[in-house]
Amino acid sequence: MKRIVVVNGPNLNLLGKREPHIYGTKSLADLMDTVRARAAELDVEVSFFQSNIDGEIIDFLQKEAPGSIGIIINPAALSHYSLALFDCVQALAVPTVEVHLSNIHAREEFRSRSVTARAARGIIAGLGFAGYILAMEYLVGLDQEAK
Ligand code: DQA
Repeated sequence: MKRIVVVNGPNLNLLGKREPHIYGTKSLADLMDTVRARAAELDVEVSFFQSNIDGEIIDFLQKEAPGSIGIIINPAALSHYSLALFDCVQALAVPTVEVHLSNIHAREEFRSRSVTARAARGIIAGLGFAGYILAMEYLVGLDQEAK
C-alpha cells in the first residue's frame, strides 16, 4: 500500500490547548483522525510522527520517508531556523509539502521566513487542518501522474 509521512514539530503536541485563537481548539489526535479518514478514502497509509526535538524528526524522516510517496511536514518553529531539517528534506528527495496551520505571513516578522520551505514542492499556510488534507491530495495526485 502507498504510504505518506506526516510530521509535526515542536509544541504541536499542545494543539487544542496552545493559543487556541491561533491554532484552534482541536488536538493533535483530532488532526490525526482527520488525516487518517481522508487517507482511507484515498487508499494510502499514514506514518505519523510528532517530536519537540529536531534530531528525532530527522532520524524519523531518514528511516520512514524513503519508499513513501511523499512527506507532509509542519516543522513548526524549526521552519524558521533548522538548516539540519532543511538538509534532511533536501537530501531525501521525496516530494514534500510544508504545512502551517496559521498564516505565517500574517504574524510576527520572524515567522514569515521558512528556511525549510526551500526543500519543499510547495507550502500551504493558514488553512488549519485543511492544509494537511490538500497536501495529501496533491501528493497522491502526483504519485498517480508518475504512473
Ligand atoms: C506553525 C507556525 C510556526 O511559526 C510556529 O512556530 C508553530 C506552528 C503553524 O502551524 O502555524 O509552532 O508552524
